[in-house]
Amino acid sequence: TVAEGDFKVADLSLAGFGRKEIQLAEHEMPGLMALRREYADAQPLAGARVTGSLHMTIQTAVLIETLVALGAEVRWASCNIFSTQDHAAAAVVVGPTGTPEAPAGVPVYAWKGETLAEYWWCTEQVLLWPDDSARGGPNMILDDGGDATLLVHKGAEFEKAGAVPSPETADSEEFAVILGVLQRSLTEDSQRWTRVAASIKGVTEETTTGVHRLYEMQNAGTLLFPAINVNDAVTKSKFDNKYGCRHSLIDGINRATDVLIGGKVAVVAGYGDVGKGCAESLRGQGARVIVTEVDPICALQAAMDGYQVATLEDVVETADIFITATGCFDVITNEHMARMKHQAIVGNIGHFDNEIDMAGLAKRDDVERINIKPQVDEWRFADGHSIIVLSEGRLLNLGNATGHPSFVMSNSFSNQTIAQIELFTKTDQYPLGVYTLPKHLDEKVARLHLDALGAKLTELSKEQAAYLGVPVEGPYKSEHYRY
Ligand code: NAI
Repeated sequence: TVAEGDFKVADLSLAGFGRKEIQLAEHEMPGLMALRREYADAQPLAGARVTGSLHMTIQTAVLIETLVALGAEVRWASCNIFSTQDHAAAAVVVGPTGTPEAPAGVPVYAWKGETLAEYWWCTEQVLLWPDDSARGGPNMILDDGGDATLLVHKGAEFEKAGAVPSPETADSEEFAVILGVLQRSLTEDSQRWTRVAASIKGVTEETTTGVHRLYEMQNAGTLLFPAINVNDAVTKSKFDNKYGCRHSLIDGINRATDVLIGGKVAVVAGYGDVGKGCAESLRGQGARVIVTEVDPICALQAAMDGYQVATLEDVVETADIFITATGCFDVITNEHMARMKHQAIVGNIGHFDNEIDMAGLAKRDDVERINIKPQVDEWRFADGHSIIVLSEGRLLNLGNATGHPSFVMSNSFSNQTIAQIELFTKTDQYPLGVYTLPKHLDEKVARLHLDALGAKLTELSKEQAAYLGVPVEGPYKSEHYRY
């Protein structure tokens, strides 16, 4: 039950609407609902105190309530300032049995349109458990992009050093905010994050960019607790990143601009899992799609899939829509944006906002920002031409639309739930390091979603299985198989 005042959302009266949408989503999330049935008696997450930092949407509400159904205590924040669906956040706080007057769900700190300062305050709130000293705070993190993990690691690092660098030394506005939070925290309690880090059994990480950060920390020897890389479960990255973005990219563009995509020239930067889904959805709408890539393998894939592969330099003045999907930074610079044609649309679907040089654009003195509506801005240059930037360069499918639909998220979140159970109940089997889930669990997640689509699996005969050298019940592929 939520302690009085231990949450912050936009409007609890939205909970009824949120609950109705959660109920519709549950039907579309057969994996999560099957896990609820499978583990109803065993309660494998009893004793787990999960801090979640992941887009607070309707689909995430079903994930949160699955973790609770498996025995966990949960606190939640969004991992992006624009991605919260306020009715979902309200419904999670109120819970299935509570009322807005007497909320009985889970403490959520998230609303659509947070400032960066509010965002990091929310992240801090979900890492601090009310009776922290008695119980040691959270013992699990469920992360998307690694911000909760980052705050704990940076906090512990600075506590060890005995000082936090001045926010003025930060290389970005956002890092200055983080340093501010940690400076205050150090004066309040000089061992807070060291204690939190020590109590955490592990983190399960949702996305490519967060996983990248984890491997960097592992290689640098700075990782403080074990991690499961959920992103690289096949039933995550080859589904959510691809088919999820195939759905939610154009949803975001349409809700933001309602521009006709057919006939337009669209550039997709990056042809990884996300880029593949984005390119396909734009082509599906009749756009002529151009891909930019740095990796010759992905570039060749794009070419063989029938896309023109070019450099941004060559097409920046002629394309109509630009989407970044690289996980890299400065992919579209402010100089690029100045050269684009009138009312070109610029958006990012990668995890962080630095794929598009928004800071550089804002610093130019020949450009003026005109807000059209929330998460849609026209940037007008002195020569009179303008571009349209979605969600201030943050992931547009969650900022301008509502992210991926339930069915694909059921795959991702079934992996998340299984990963939480693995790390929490088999802690000894996961010494400090970054792991992916075993293949039989990946196949299990896929199995849980076949019936709902009317897909019937063929069964290997014993003889066929022996011929292929695999067990009849799987796993069917070797670790190096790439799907
Ligand atoms: P990926 O690693 O499969 O693909 C990224 C591709 O971008 C790679 O092929 C890489 O060679 C290419 N690339 C890197 N720098 C480039 C540059 N400067 N110019 C052109 N191409 C470049 O990664 P994935 O899984 O496709 O994820 C991409 C980003 O999207 C990540 O930040 C990830 O966290 C995020 N993501 C966002 C989702 C959403 O719903 N918005 C869903 C899933 C992932």
